[in-house]
Amino acid sequence: MATAGEIAAVGVIGAGQMGSGIAQLAAAAGCAVLLLDADSAALSRAVASISASLRRLAAKGQLSQAACEDSIKRIRCVSTVQDLRDADLVIEAIVENEDVKKKLFVELDKITKPSAILASNTSSISITRLASATKRPSQVIGMHFFNPPPIMKLIEIIRGADTSDEVFAAVKSFSERLGKTVICSQDYPGFIVNRILMPMINEAFWALYTGVATQEDIDTGMKLGTNHPMGPLQLADFIGLDVCLSVLRVLHNGLGDNKYSPCPLLVQYVDAGRLGKKRGVGVYSYGQKSSSVKP
Ligand code: NAI
Repeated sequence: MATAGEIAAVGVIGAGQMGSGIAQLAAAAGCAVLLLDADSAALSRAVASISASLRRLAAKGQLSQAACEDSIKRIRCVSTVQDLRDADLVIEAIVENEDVKKKLFVELDKITKPSAILASNTSSISITRLASATKRPSQVIGMHFFNPPPIMKLIEIIRGADTSDEVFAAVKSFSERLGKTVICSQDYPGFIVNRILMPMINEAFWALYTGVATQEDIDTGMKLGTNHPMGPLQLADFIGLDVCLSVLRVLHNGLGDNKYSPCPLLVQYVDAGRLGKKRGVGVYSYGQKSSSVKP
């Protein structure tokens, strides 16, 4: 099993909002990064956004020009899971769907080297169940980054029922190598942060749905009234309304309490394809000029 110091090659699967940021962090920390996505257009977008983000850091003097260009060169886009065979650590950041993730973990277990650690960036799905799809449950762990990964300081590490102490220690010190603060959660639905955050986002949707206030007033209320950097509806748009809905369903099913039942307005937005900032429209619209959309 690879120790943190030995993690030299990192596979990142899913080149969307989260995977692209995770790939950037690993490359900037000196790792060779293999970036895989089922959609080649997502890979092209990820490379463009990672390059732009690293060059912005170089322009601000937070990274040398050479380190910036070297980091970009360390990222290689690949097209099959087999291309990850030499990775010491694989971080999965694909769609938040348990069956799809399990299928991927079965494949990863077959093709990666026996010492490789398999991590999931899932927001809410049980690490123990993902691990049980493999023959190496002691080497499966949750590594939950926050959006956007290069900016947000936290990684929530989730230990599955069988995650070994050695794997936990290796992933903790690798996370610190990425410059992050680590918290550790046991494997219960929503872990720590989403267990507390998602009911607040859901309640904000209920307030909007039942006509308590406009989206702007709900967000301004929570920003200025509780000193949050952004309101819950805007945050939901940034996270992705599809991701919020999936997490709420996991909380609802896993904890069996109706207080987690997703608000019908959130469900309707997702059904309509209003997934948030990544699609240009969610609670708010993100065109040339950001403006709100009436529910
Ligand atoms: P996204 O929709 O931006 O990106 C997902 C990417 O995965 C897409 O490019 C898609 O083409 C690719 N993909 C889907 N299935 C695949 C497969 N079988 N093989 C290879 N590629 C595949 O989603 P996002 O927001 O990056 O979320 C990814 C994961 O990270 C989810 O599990 C989500 O719950 C988790 N997460 C999301 C956060 C957020 O704020 N959006 C925060 C923390 C975790």
